Formats: sequence, C-alpha cells, structure tokens
Amino acid sequence: MALKVIGISASPRLNGNSDLLLRQALSGAESAGAQTEYLRLADYKIAPCIECNSCYKTGRCVVKDDYHLISAKMLDADRIIFATPIFFMTVCAQAKILIDRCQCLWAHKYVLKKPLITTGRDRRAMVIAVGGSKSKKMFDCIRLTMKYFFDVLDVNYAANLFVNKMENPGQIKEHPSAMKEAFALGQKLVSPDTHPPEKPIDIELT
Ligand SMILES: Cc1cc2nc3c(=O)[nH]c(=O)nc-3n(C[C@H](O)[C@H](O)[C@H](O)COP(=O)(O)O)c2cc1C
Repeated sequence: MALKVIGISASPRLNGNSDLLLRQALSGAESAGAQTEYLRLADYKIAPCIECNSCYKTGRCVVKDDYHLISAKMLDADRIIFATPIFFMTVCAQAKILIDRCQCLWAHKYVLKKPLITTGRDRRAMVIAVGGSKSKKMFDCIRLTMKYFFDVLDVNYAANLFVNKMENPGQIKEHPSAMKEAFALGQKLVSPDTHPPEKPIDIELT
C-alpha cells in the first residue's frame, strides 16, 4: 500500500517560498509512489491553546475548531512535511498555533500515560523553513521546537531543508538548487530502502 504523506503549509502567503518548496517535496514523494495530501493552515480556523488543562483529564482538546481535523490527518499519515517561513527567528504564528494545540497529545502520552494510536509505526517527518536574511542562528529555534513537536506526534525527525536570504514571494524558484533538493528529499522521505536516520539530514542553503 502507498505511504500517506501530508504536507502542511504554514505560510500566510500562497505561493510563498516555503509553500513552493513543500509542493516540490510532495511531487518528489508522489514520483516515488506515495499518496500525498497538501493543506494550507491559512484555509482552516484554529484557535490558540488556552491552557485550560482539560486535556490533562481526558487527553482531548475541548476547543471546537479545525484543529481536530488536522490532528487526525497528522496521526494518520506515514510521513509529514511541515513548511514554515521564519518569523522572528522561529516558526510563523499559524504554525505555532497548531503546534501548541497538540498539547492534548502531550497530555495523552505523558500525563495520562496512554499511547497514541500511532505507536509502533514507522512514521517520519521533514521540515522546510525559509528566512529572508542570513543569520548564523536562524534555524536554532525551529530545530528545537520541531524536535519536541515530532516527539509528541510519535514521528521520527528525518530531514530539514532550510533556505535563507529569500525575501520576495516566489524568489525560491530562482535559487540554483533549492527546488531540486526539495524534490529529492521528498523522494527520500518515502524510500522503502532507507531506515529512519539517527539525526535529521540537514540541508541548509543560501
Ligand atoms: C513577521 C515577519 C517576521 C520575519 N522574521 C524574520 C526573521 O526573523 N528572520 C529572517 O531571516 N526573515 C524573517 N522574515 C522574512 C521571511 O522569513 C521571508 O520573507 C520568507 O521568504 C517568507 O517565507 P514564505 O515566502 O514561505 O512565507 C520575516 C517576515 C515577516 C513578515
């Protein structure tokens, strides 16, 4: 059966740089036989976590909105590709809101000590992030946040594709190698021959 890959685009800009890379990575995964789904967080209504701690008792979030739909898709997927612009040195707000809402999964696992339905599956994830400037520490925050997020989701952190010095929407198409790297990483993410890596493959391009 084909692997299910979900691509989550957090950029508020349609055809933004991270969005274009994500779609390229999904094409790569599709070319290697995977079944892919693309979604833009901007098309969904997701409220921020209110830290009511109801999930500490039930493992479920009481806030009724599109989070539940996206959470179900993330838990069902064999592979997740998460794409975000760098805003103030970390993920953009749309991404952070979704990440914070996964606190109910954290509570399910670590407060209630119940396994997620994903336990035991080979699930892997990749991060795509694009920033406008070039700073040495630009991707430090995102590495940590995504590691913690993927741990909660029971996915192996398999790869990063980080690109800096991209400011204008669509500029990434002029980059000499970024689109090709995204396609190749998408293919690799679904390759049946590879084992989950111990450390994420790290590609950082200027
Ligand atoms: C609110 C905001 C904050 C930003 N913060 C940073 C930043 O901290 N570092 C950086 O290099 N670029 C920053 N940028 C620039 C974006 O990362 C850049 O334009 C990127 O290409 C956007 O990706 P997208 O096209 O996928 O949305 C910021 C842009 C905005 C609008």
